[in-house]
Amino acid sequence: MPLAPSSSEKPFLRVMSGEALDRRPIWLMRQAGRYLPEYREIRATAPSFMDFCYAPKLAAEATLQPIRRFGFDAAILFSDILVVPDALGQSVSFETGEGPRLSPIETEADFAQLFEKIDLNRLGPVFETIDRVKSALPSDTTFLGFCGAPWTVASYMIAGRGTPEQAPARLFAYQNPALFQKIIDRLVEASIDYLERQLQAGVEAVQIFDSWAGVLPALEFDRWCVKPVAAIVEGLRRRRPDARIIGFPRSATSHLRGYAAATGVDMIGLDTSVAPTFVRGEIDDRIPVQGNLDPLALISGGEGLDASVRHILETLRGRPHIFNLGHGILPQTPVAHVERLMKLVRAEG
Ligand code: CP3
Repeated sequence: MPLAPSSSEKPFLRVMSGEALDRRPIWLMRQAGRYLPEYREIRATAPSFMDFCYAPKLAAEATLQPIRRFGFDAAILFSDILVVPDALGQSVSFETGEGPRLSPIETEADFAQLFEKIDLNRLGPVFETIDRVKSALPSDTTFLGFCGAPWTVASYMIAGRGTPEQAPARLFAYQNPALFQKIIDRLVEASIDYLERQLQAGVEAVQIFDSWAGVLPALEFDRWCVKPVAAIVEGLRRRRPDARIIGFPRSATSHLRGYAAATGVDMIGLDTSVAPTFVRGEIDDRIPVQGNLDPLALISGGEGLDASVRHILETLRGRPHIFNLGHGILPQTPVAHVERLMKLVRAEG
């Protein structure tokens, strides 16, 4: 008898298609990074973080390191969401220990300096990284690409840096909605082009990180988060009807219920603040979800870690669920705690 199409697929992709597996797949946001000694070692060989992102050999190695060490079910392309403004012609750099710095967009004249279309040639090294990684991955590991959601990326483009609750970008959107809309529209088009090219190069699903979704009130959330992500999903599926897409509207709990239907994403990433019992009560159990261990519980380890992991596994059992953190892993995280997490999820997931 021929296998049912889904059973020949990788576990991660089966969950994304709506299957509830007995053994939950797992990966961690920011799984490549400073908590790993082998990452710190190769990171030290590049003069800057952007140079590191644009060095295919190094970025491919960083992508593979957590797979070799822990055997996660998904590898995420090593890059950053801010390569998109860089490829739109805005200057982007990272100050050690201080986060991103961009030349802020404050006026129509600043906006006019951006390229009309994303320069995919500038992102050539990213696609080369994808090419290198895909041939080196174990056969049941899923390869994820990503981009930032327009609202989150725009908030850095406007303020030129991370700011408390992205207040400068929120003010800008209230005070200058027409120009803000132009920035968002530019990012929607850029993201469609960029994600399409990542899929062509070999990633199997993509995640749209809306890390700052949770700071917006209802009307603004709909206008600046839901609509642009829906436009990316629609535009990408027009070119790649089979594109699989994860949405991660971080800290937007009160908008989660309708998010998958309103945007068209296949799976919702849950941030730390979402109670698994809320998911069980409020979110249609056919919608795949991903999450949502507190990164601080992973730093702490011990019984608190075990209890949190078991609570998530038990509460979401029987649903299509990928185990993950509720936000990126932090640099202080002990490797031994990640090992403990893997053991628990493999044994009880
Ligand atoms: O392992 C992975 O998840 C893949 C790589 C990845 C990075 N950034 C590497 C990175 C991914 C998916 C991102 C996404 C990203 N980048 C987001 C969305 C997700 C989130 O965490 O909210 C955002 C908002 C950014 C922008 C960004 N990049 C900031 C604010 C910072 C500085 C803060 C910090 O943690 O230092 C970065 C730098 C960055 N991106 C690092 C890494 C591993 C650390 C820099 C270094 O290693 O030198």
